[in-house]
Amino acid sequence: MAIRLGDEAPDFTAESTEGTINFHEWKGDDWAVLFSHPKDFTPVCTTELGAVAALKPEFDKRHTKVIGLSVDPVDSHQSWKGDIADVTGHELNFPLIADGDRTVADLYDMIHPNANDTLTVRSVFVVGPDNKVKLTLTYPASTGRNFDELLRVIDSLQLTAGYSVATPADWKDGDDVIVAPALSDDEAKEKFPKGFEAKKPYLRVTPQPNK
Ligand code: BEZ
Repeated sequence: MAIRLGDEAPDFTAESTEGTINFHEWKGDDWAVLFSHPKDFTPVCTTELGAVAALKPEFDKRHTKVIGLSVDPVDSHQSWKGDIADVTGHELNFPLIADGDRTVADLYDMIHPNANDTLTVRSVFVVGPDNKVKLTLTYPASTGRNFDELLRVIDSLQLTAGYSVATPADWKDGDDVIVAPALSDDEAKEKFPKGFEAKKPYLRVTPQPNK
């Protein structure tokens, strides 16, 4: 069954390029990004894994661990690592799960048979410190993901977890945010000492509270 926002991220134990990993234990109290790619030694996947490796310090800053997955075996992942470094200039610096028996792919509904019977689609799951799923994305094999967008969403998820705000279209860390509609004006005045501007009664903006 599909995994929905707010569901507990299913736990699993799997082989990876960094040895056997128990997902919940490995993740601990951090945030995590679990993402699948269809196949080793394929062009789009090679660029994606290099892109995530390059952004690893940004994920670290956000206390977010990253872990990739495909249904290829560990020895294939290990031999592919050289190509990823060669092509992208970035060594793989996070674990890649080898899900040959599709245990994790099935658990997370990463195989969409009408797209491909055997290979995983490009799924992304962002999991919070409480092990609940905060974001899901599904891309087709032909489209590489934008991992800067993933960082932007993590910034929003982390901010909105701590403050009664939402983030508008194309928001970036440091931009003004939206006061949660559930707050009355009086409550908003108390929570946001910098004040807010009511563009409409239901759309009130305030400077990002943790800046
Ligand atoms: C790729 O990563 O380039 C790819 C993988 C599977 C199917 C199509 C493209």
